[in-house]
Amino acid sequence: MESILVSGGAGYIGSHTVKTLLDRGYKPVVLDNLVTGHWQSVARGVPFFQGDIADSHLVRRIVEKEHVSAVIHFAARSLVGESAEKPDLYFEENTAKTNRFVSSLLESAVKRLIFSSTAATYGIPEEVPIPENAPTSPINPYGFSKLMIEQSFSWLEKAYGLEWIALRYFNAAGAALDGSLGEDHIPETHLIPLILKAALGQREGISIFGTDYATPDGTCIRDYIHVLDLANAHILALEALGKGIGSGVYNVGTGSGYSVREVIETARQVTGRTIPVVESPRRPGDPDRLIAKVAKIQTLLGWSPNYSSLEQIVESAWTWHLRHPNGFE
Ligand SMILES: NC(=O)c1ccc[n+]([C@@H]2O[C@H](COP(=O)([O-])OP(=O)(O)OC[C@H]3O[C@@H](n4cnc5c(N)ncnc54)[C@H](O)[C@@H]3O)[C@@H](O)[C@H]2O)c1
Repeated sequence: MESILVSGGAGYIGSHTVKTLLDRGYKPVVLDNLVTGHWQSVARGVPFFQGDIADSHLVRRIVEKEHVSAVIHFAARSLVGESAEKPDLYFEENTAKTNRFVSSLLESAVKRLIFSSTAATYGIPEEVPIPENAPTSPINPYGFSKLMIEQSFSWLEKAYGLEWIALRYFNAAGAALDGSLGEDHIPETHLIPLILKAALGQREGISIFGTDYATPDGTCIRDYIHVLDLANAHILALEALGKGIGSGVYNVGTGSGYSVREVIETARQVTGRTIPVVESPRRPGDPDRLIAKVAKIQTLLGWSPNYSSLEQIVESAWTWHLRHPNGFE
């Protein structure tokens, strides 16, 4: 069994990927400092090390003890608003600590790495759907902190033979189909869990920021990707690197999008609950549409989404919220 170190494996996307790795016969090993993650989300029997990715001694010890051969690196801070208030925190936590983490891995002769990047590396797109070779011009420190890491990898590849794939996710959403895992961010900033919390009566309603965008119903359109499809993309990327596909950047999205109003309407249908809406002014920096061009990942990694219809996304997330109205307690 190949042993895969999953940094941030107690987080939302990380915990679903750990579960998928187990299902596929891998041996995941989790490193997480629980700054935003939940120990309860780590599957039973999976080796769990509570610590920081910047702790070189710990990272080297884990690699040696668990015979780690490759890494999936999720650990990061990812609140866009917080990043604008504290850019230095994001450059430290995301960029500098990832650099230290990768150095420790390379010292331990671990050279295969899959990295959680983001559509925020593009900024306001000139072209939609957005191809991987579109200009990268992040409009917040979060996106910039991730772009700097991506760019550093090419140099680490030249110098030390790092083999890497950066997956630029669009909007991760949904939950494990059995309701055992799901999204539990504090604070929650993502649209679907916020809508479902309104459906549960935990929030008064949901705000729509801007109803005058250049879209059919005037609200922003985003590309939502089910967390299980995202998990699968990581495993395909890992396997492709193992077969020598070479390093690179891939979008992970569906190639189509849904508007905020469409998401709310689907949530009303799935939950059968009332979801009050408050129409608010636009927020700065929100483009009309963010949709991934996905030809590259489909062609080169053979990936395609299986769970990412809006209904499947909302249904799985609703199952999670109904079973865990207070998240991981
Ligand atoms: N959720 C999305 O829609 C989305 C979109 C694009 C990219 N991403 C990226 O995907 C990754 C996972 O996102 P998520 O939504 O699962 O976030 P999350 O906050 O649920 O998970 C991140 C995990 O990393 C851990 N962590 C953070 N800093 C750490 C450190 N220094 N050392 C050890 N552990 C640390 C946290 O405790 C947490 O468990 C992040 O890198 C994020 O930037 C997420």
